[in-house]
Amino acid sequence: MHLGSPENLSQLNADAPWDAFDPQAYVQHNYERVIDEDAEIISIVRAHFSDHFGARPDRPFRGIDVGAGANLYPAFSMLPWCEEITLLDRATPNVEYLEKQRRSYDQSWDAFWNLLCRDVGYRAMPNDPRQRFADVVRIEQGDLFALSDRRDHWSLGTMFFVAESLSTSEDEFRRAVECFLLSLTPGAPFAAAFMEHSEGYVVGSTHFPACDVGEPEIRSAIESYADGLRMFTVGQPDAVRPGYTHMIVACGFRGRGI
Ligand SMILES: C[S@@+](CC[C@H](N)C(=O)[O-])C[C@H]1O[C@@H](n2cnc3c(N)ncnc32)[C@H](O)[C@@H]1O
Repeated sequence: MHLGSPENLSQLNADAPWDAFDPQAYVQHNYERVIDEDAEIISIVRAHFSDHFGARPDRPFRGIDVGAGANLYPAFSMLPWCEEITLLDRATPNVEYLEKQRRSYDQSWDAFWNLLCRDVGYRAMPNDPRQRFADVVRIEQGDLFALSDRRDHWSLGTMFFVAESLSTSEDEFRRAVECFLLSLTPGAPFAAAFMEHSEGYVVGSTHFPACDVGEPEIRSAIESYADGLRMFTVGQPDAVRPGYTHMIVACGFRGRGI
């Protein structure tokens, strides 16, 4: 999620123009090739999931990528261990993009899968990843705030560049993190990524809001719902667009004592 804009007027999630989100423009700018920041994020998430699940042949797990948008690599990171992966997003164009990719994803995504395959947990997956993605993924159009009705449901989860990139409200940022983490079963591994101090972003010609959060706000939103939380700072200020500082990756396990 790497496009920026200096304009970031106050805007709640329900008021942003989600159905004007242009997945083609978004992919072209962000995921047409693997940039260094995504390679680093992939190596962090790959190690986190692979260390937890190892090369288990059985895949009884249900995964979720919250606010999947036009990014397939968070779902790839869960692929070897899941019998089902839900890709949740509220924007109609993103849901249509994901449906098309589910049938047979574009070649540009192969480079992301190949990076995951540096770990044996991914390399050992017996099936062709394109076929497995088509078999395992289900796409759901919906609002992540409604996940509060589906507590303890998924056994691993990802949420990349969503909680801070859905409105200017810190209250909505915190609620998005809470809804994501409580939708996971106690002990479930998770990975989440954030744009630190984002001023909002432009996709195609449409501006989308962001909430200005730093490492302390991200940590504080996550830590009461998580065990074993580890946070990583990725990239250099404004390296991929103006209007943010770093990317932050958080890995851990849904807290058991909640
Ligand atoms: C900046 S994009 C991130 C997309 C993708 N996860 C990535 O890593 O590039 C934010 C995504 O959040 C989705 N979104 C915004 N509000 C949402 C909500 N209330 N429920 C579900 N998805 C939402 C948008 O449609 C968009 O796909």
